[in-house]
Amino acid sequence: MRVLVTGAGGLLGKAVAKYFQEKAEVKAFTRQELDISDKTSVEKAVKGFFPTVIINCAAMARVDACETDWSSAEKANIIGPENLASQAKSVGAYLMHISTDYVFDGKKTSPYTIKDPASPISAYGRSKYLGENAVILATDNYFIVRVARLFGIGGNNFGSKIFDYLDNAKKTGNRLKVCNYPVSQATYLPDLVIRLSEIIDKKHSGIYQVTSSGDIVSWYEFACLAIEMVGLEKDLLTIVDYPDLGLPALRPRYSALECLLSEELGLLPLPNWQEGVKEIYKHWSDSNK
Ligand SMILES: NC(=O)c1ccc[n+]([C@@H]2O[C@H](COP(=O)([O-])OP(=O)(O)OC[C@H]3O[C@@H](n4cnc5c(N)ncnc54)[C@H](OP(=O)(O)O)[C@@H]3O)[C@@H](O)[C@H]2O)c1
Repeated sequence: MRVLVTGAGGLLGKAVAKYFQEKAEVKAFTRQELDISDKTSVEKAVKGFFPTVIINCAAMARVDACETDWSSAEKANIIGPENLASQAKSVGAYLMHISTDYVFDGKKTSPYTIKDPASPISAYGRSKYLGENAVILATDNYFIVRVARLFGIGGNNFGSKIFDYLDNAKKTGNRLKVCNYPVSQATYLPDLVIRLSEIIDKKHSGIYQVTSSGDIVSWYEFACLAIEMVGLEKDLLTIVDYPDLGLPALRPRYSALECLLSEELGLLPLPNWQEGVKEIYKHWSDSNK
């Protein structure tokens, strides 16, 4: 198998490139090496490698920045995926395109399936939804994979850094501010990349929704679990109401995902995200000995 990875400098792209390097021939491009909105460069990269599958991890994933920089969101989240899909088609490759739970508005109170209509409430969500459509229009051979709340060892986000944040709160006495909504599932990166590989093996085009198993939580509840693991007190946390953060983009209040297609294809649920938190804690405590 020949795997071309885009956005290889990002959180998911790094994990994907590393995982597939052990089982396939891989060409991984960071943004500096390949801007997916540049049609000519995409053609050159694809025709220079003839991949079996392209895994598109590139995106303008800074949700708030998308509100004020539609041009970058459009390039990375719509034009780029369209370029990749057309080039994938031209060489007979599959395109695996990563999308998001933010294509939904968050008004439901039970998990979203792919039968639920997308109705994004942010520029980021809109651009990602338009990107999905661009892929579907450009090729028949695609796996669109909606994911939610990624975290993993070494990542630069709340889930990945939780033990650093708690440690800092304990040392400085400055409580960690955490929101008690939105709620969604968390997704542990090492489990996600294995599932991406399993989806590729199935060779079944469609929209997948992949998250870890386990409770649907807010970051506050996620942090409470981390606190229990470390044996600290919950008074290290202060709950903040989401609107009080004053963030430019709206987020879906509830965005749990269910994947009927994975079930139909016999793919078992991923492990509970709490197992991922335990691994992060082990790694964190080993490196802080
Ligand atoms: N992280 C999450 O919790 C989460 C949740 C739901 C869905 N997702 C989806 O998962 C995917 C991966 O997200 P991530 O968290 O890994 O994001 P990330 O860490 O920001 O990685 C995205 C990468 O794409 C690069 N990029 C941006 N514009 C590009 C362009 N025009 N051409 C090529 N590369 C470009 C970025 O470079 P720069 O950093 O230089 O801009 C960055 O290296 C995205 O599709 C995202 O929408 C993520």
